[in-house]
Amino acid sequence: MAVIEINGLQKSYRTHKALDSVTLTVERGEIFGILGPNGAGKTTVVECASGLRKPDGGTLRVLGMDPRTRRHELLQRIGAQLQEAALPDAIKVGEALRMYASFYDKPADWRALMQEWGLAEKKRARFAGLSGGWKQRLFIALALVGNPEVVFLDELTTGLDPAARRLTWGLIRDMRDRGVTVVLVTHFMDEAEALCDRIAVIDQGRVVHEGSPGELIDRSHAGSLEDAYFTLIERTV
Ligand SMILES: Nc1ncnc2c1ncn2[C@@H]1O[C@H](COP(=O)(O)OP(=O)(O)OP(=O)(O)O)[C@@H](O)[C@H]1O
Ligand SMILES: [Mg+2]
Repeated sequence: MAVIEINGLQKSYRTHKALDSVTLTVERGEIFGILGPNGAGKTTVVECASGLRKPDGGTLRVLGMDPRTRRHELLQRIGAQLQEAALPDAIKVGEALRMYASFYDKPADWRALMQEWGLAEKKRARFAGLSGGWKQRLFIALALVGNPEVVFLDELTTGLDPAARRLTWGLIRDMRDRGVTVVLVTHFMDEAEALCDRIAVIDQGRVVHEGSPGELIDRSHAGSLEDAYFTLIERTV
């Protein structure tokens, strides 16, 4: 069953066409990767699908709902870790988790999430004093605090140390195994190859390739997703 259906999605910022016509489908319970060069439109797709930006055209359904008209209902059932998220400097880790949990009708146990993400030792630390990687961990926990059915993770592992990155991979697989659908934007090809069931490569506001990592590798006669990516992108520019 499709949980995200995007058809001919368009979005312009003033005169710049960020999304030309994006069409893609994400099935329930999969880890769906979105890859593509800087400025390709990946974050814009995620922001439109999570109700944070209004597209100019095309159709969009997430869990059967149009984010343009049923935003509030949708926000109760999705989670998002966004590329440029921020919190007030003075808020403490524990307070942020408790506050986010209060936004949801059926929240997860925020204390358990804090433990799971290794944040318990930082419970009383203020946001401004956290290192980049600790901020990332907090944003991941915040994305999950509403017990979401779909999670959008935009460059989740950027800034994490290698151990935290591997830990995060395990937790993303756990999410999928619990039936959560994960949309993962990443620039790390090893990460996409290891985690994603299917991938869409976006370039200049369009999906230019779609398939499982294995299919993309076979299609380009490459040895790895990284090699495949360069071959495929080179062909389209
Ligand atoms: N708020 C905005 N105002 C104007 N232009 C924007 C805005 N947000 C994005 N853009 C432009 O839209 C295009 C797509 O941006 P987007 O952030 O979706 O790309 P991306 O694929 O996520 O890139 P990155 O890999 O660098 O995160 C870019 O050309 C960008 O400059
Ligand atoms: Mg982006």
